[in-house]
Amino acid sequence: MNAEMLALAAMEARKFSYCPYSGFSVGAALLSENGAIYTGCNIENAAYSPTNCAERTAFFKAVSEGEKRFSAIAVCGGPAGLEPVDFCWPCGVCRQVMMEFCDPERFIVISVKCPTDLERCYLRDLLPRSFGQTDLEKAR
Ligand code: THU
Repeated sequence: MNAEMLALAAMEARKFSYCPYSGFSVGAALLSENGAIYTGCNIENAAYSPTNCAERTAFFKAVSEGEKRFSAIAVCGGPAGLEPVDFCWPCGVCRQVMMEFCDPERFIVISVKCPTDLERCYLRDLLPRSFGQTDLEKAR
């Protein structure tokens, strides 16, 4: 599995985006350590706050199927029906969800404009000085 293949999976997932309110469609493809891919799209709601981002859709699908070890996620977002005009990075809530299940020093986040135009970084770069499980353990 390479980054381009994960990018293509995110672009495919983006086609299922339900985004009648923002008109901003996002797709994600989450790679587990054993090589399985879990895809997700953003799913909006008339009450707005129940909206779920593409990244969290992918994580919740994976975790609900017993997967908890991940190596990378590709994210692709932009105006619905059009090619992305820019790199889309995960929102703060999704970064925190990633922190719950992933090693920030090893988990790779790939932002996709197109399969040949990718940017990548580690989760630690997106969420420095983070709060996680170990902070709670220290407090016990
Ligand atoms: N969105 C995502 O799905 N992932 C992100 O990383 C950023 C934002 C969605 C939420 C909402 O449906 C739309 O994009 C506009 O914020």
